[in-house]
Amino acid sequence: MHRGAPASLLDPGTEADPHPLHRTLRGKFPLVHDEPFGAWLISRYADVRAALADPRLVPPSPGPVPAHGACRAVVSQALGDRVPAALRAGVERTAHVLASRLAFRQEADLVAEFCQWLPAAAAVAALGLPYEDTARVHAWCRTGLDHLGGHHPGLAAHLRPHVAARRAHPGDDLLSALCAARPDGRPLSDEAVTGLAATVLGAAGETTARALASFLTNLLDHPRQLDLVRARPELAGAAWAESLRRDPPLQIVARRALEPVGPVPGGATVACLLGAAGRDPARFADPDRYDVFRADPGGLAYGSGPHRCPGAALARLTAESGLRALLTVLPDLRRAPGPRPRAEGLVSRSPRTLPVCPR
Ligand code: HEM
Repeated sequence: MHRGAPASLLDPGTEADPHPLHRTLRGKFPLVHDEPFGAWLISRYADVRAALADPRLVPPSPGPVPAHGACRAVVSQALGDRVPAALRAGVERTAHVLASRLAFRQEADLVAEFCQWLPAAAAVAALGLPYEDTARVHAWCRTGLDHLGGHHPGLAAHLRPHVAARRAHPGDDLLSALCAARPDGRPLSDEAVTGLAATVLGAAGETTARALASFLTNLLDHPRQLDLVRARPELAGAAWAESLRRDPPLQIVARRALEPVGPVPGGATVACLLGAAGRDPARFADPDRYDVFRADPGGLAYGSGPHRCPGAALARLTAESGLRALLTVLPDLRRAPGPRPRAEGLVSRSPRTLPVCPR
């Protein structure tokens, strides 16, 4: 174990291509302090998995939202493994509408015109907000609302009347479930409910949007595998899981050490590098390759252990519905000529554009 990293996540060039640094870290510096980044880096699959489930390593700060664990429980229960049928139908309908809008276009950018809209619409529907709110969520996600602790000044004010309405007349949506939750025997405050709803909107509008962009990029970059998924739609789930392994939208999950853990001092920040773990050759054969037939893609993109993401089922539904609609409505969909879109971002990472020929 070395105390000093050979290079830093903040070095120029790492954001453009973090994989060379990831290789060095996994190979020679599996637990190392990155001083400029201000965190201890963990990069091997087995170590990341263990760290995420270690009770001595906790999420850095619950942010403005109390009872964050309660959110996880409520979201898990409401969306769980089975997304409600009405929500599923709504997401499928929206995917179809969005894909149909591209049907007569020569060129389009799937990130701006599809990936950023479908997950936002899915989260709006899950919370039981009016469909028109999708445009607001889309705008908030482009200006500061993100996964975990997402915050936007206009958001709380916008949600407050909806919270009041659900308290008076509960429905069967996620916002009503948050209003009805009693984590400590008492209902959550309005501030907590709006904070948790913001997390759901940010998680979908930002993180799922990024994951969808990488997913569609991977498939369009591998036309033979795309043809296979087109012919055998039951492969869509494996294709999605494989994209999350290879290109997780959240590349880094942070933890704070409650006490000394090996060389890591108490109070220090630990960065679990999901992007490095997903391409660990000790865990995955030929890890840089995108392969829809990979038997076990590992599943670390959602974290692991007690804090594992409770939105996985909604994210998967969104991705599968999106892909199905695109393949049905746009049978000739392919990448537009030109350079491959580059992924950007150190913590949240995905291609910012995906130019395609819809017909
Ligand atoms: C592909 C899409 C998504 C990915 C890759 C993803 C990934 C993650 C990750 C890595 C974490 C942190 C886990 C940890 O700290 O160990 C997390 C937490 C969380 N996610 Fe997601 N997420 C996605 C979509 C969603 C969606 C759609 C929702 C809402 C419906 C959601 C709600 C949450 C919540 C509430 C937490 C906090 C859990 C806690 O603190 O205990 N996520 N997610």
